[in-house]
Amino acid sequence: MLDLRVNDAAHQVDAPPEMPLVWVLRDLIGLRGTKFGCGIGACGACIVHLDGQAVRACITTAAEAHGKAITTIEGLAGAHGDHSLQRAWKQVNAPQCGYCQPGQLMQAAALLAQTPKPTDEQITSAMAGNICRCGAYQRIKAAIKIAAGEAE
Ligand code: FES
Ligand code: FES
Repeated sequence: MLDLRVNDAAHQVDAPPEMPLVWVLRDLIGLRGTKFGCGIGACGACIVHLDGQAVRACITTAAEAHGKAITTIEGLAGAHGDHSLQRAWKQVNAPQCGYCQPGQLMQAAALLAQTPKPTDEQITSAMAGNICRCGAYQRIKAAIKIAAGEAE
């Protein structure tokens, strides 16, 4: 059994240590907001936070997550409601099909936690590894700028 802390809740899971975290979260804990895309760390759909750092849950094992604070899209909102990024996402209607969006939001949240006022270049660089097959890149970027207080 592995003890994992997800969104401030303790979970004991019967997972092999090498099991990808994305399946632990989705299939063993039932948090299905984290999406599976490529499975090789190339698309960003599965991004969650480990101790505040954005990681790809398809190439992160359960053992690697042990002892760390895991945050998923379900835990992004705080006690006072939606994260500023979630509000901005709604303001610009960022999602199209929505599949990539949890990973986009988690990547953007890690960016703003580290760099609250990112430049255009910093946003582009930080988000470069998040693929959106619907091409919602401009709205995602606009939402990040709104959340950072840099645009209306
Ligand atoms: S599913 Fe993890 S990066 Fe694509
Ligand atoms: S909104 Fe459809 S993949 Fe990004």
